[in-house]
Amino acid sequence: MRVDVIGIFPEYLAPLELSIVGRARTTGLLEVVAHDLRDWTHDVHRTVDDTPYGGGAGMVMKPEPWGEALDAVLAGGPGGGPAGARARLVVPTPGGRPFTQALAEEYAALPWLVFTCGRYEGIDARVAAQAAARPEVEAVDEVSLGDYVLAGGEAAVLVIVEAVARLLPGVLGNPDSLSEESHTDGLLEYPVYTKPQAWRGIEVPEILRSGDHGRIARWRRDSALRRTAAVRPDLVAALDPAGLDRADLATLAAAGWVPGEDGRFRPVPPCVPD
Ligand code: ADE
Repeated sequence: MRVDVIGIFPEYLAPLELSIVGRARTTGLLEVVAHDLRDWTHDVHRTVDDTPYGGGAGMVMKPEPWGEALDAVLAGGPGGGPAGARARLVVPTPGGRPFTQALAEEYAALPWLVFTCGRYEGIDARVAAQAAARPEVEAVDEVSLGDYVLAGGEAAVLVIVEAVARLLPGVLGNPDSLSEESHTDGLLEYPVYTKPQAWRGIEVPEILRSGDHGRIARWRRDSALRRTAAVRPDLVAALDPAGLDRADLATLAAAGWVPGEDGRFRPVPPCVPD
């Protein structure tokens, strides 16, 4: 996979040389190129921002450097994007759609991602609109990490690239670890333990030492269901009851969730004794 990142702080991406992402790059599974937006300015101050039309606080990123940067990066060529591929343009912004594991999986199947890292109050809206009409761009995604505001898109790119890179075939030593982790089946992950058996007076649950793989799988599934019900009711509400077995349904019922007439889980108020 090829990843291009355009912004005013290309050095911000240095952590992508470390750990799993760094190894994916040295083994050739992933290519990441950071570009300095100011290389496409033409004034002595290398200006990338200006005051907003309509007034208001802060500055907006000017469209011209972005347009030229995208012209150059999307042209590919020697050292550029993959031959014959079209790019998915990803615009990190708190105004975007949520970045999820499903989106990470979608991105991991693409040959080429191009990120535009905005700063200040964001990028002139015409940049994304014009990019969406370009033949080299397959789609433009405005994507948010969550309901909070970062100082710019770079930190979001670090997160998105790491989430995507670990899904690329060959990147993780043991790909089995992908199948049971949080969010792959709409649930949070069950708690995990390693040696020693007792630590600071707390024992590893006996069942995990029993060697009974069926009971262990059930215990892990129930733990995941209970944890999800406790901290992420939105994920329970999004589950399809038809995809769960009877034991799953019993565990969720005990945690206060039952299938409603619309085929979705709904919370049941706790019984209060008279
Ligand atoms: N840029 C600023 N805030 C952001 C957020 N929450 N997600 C993605 N990009 C951002």
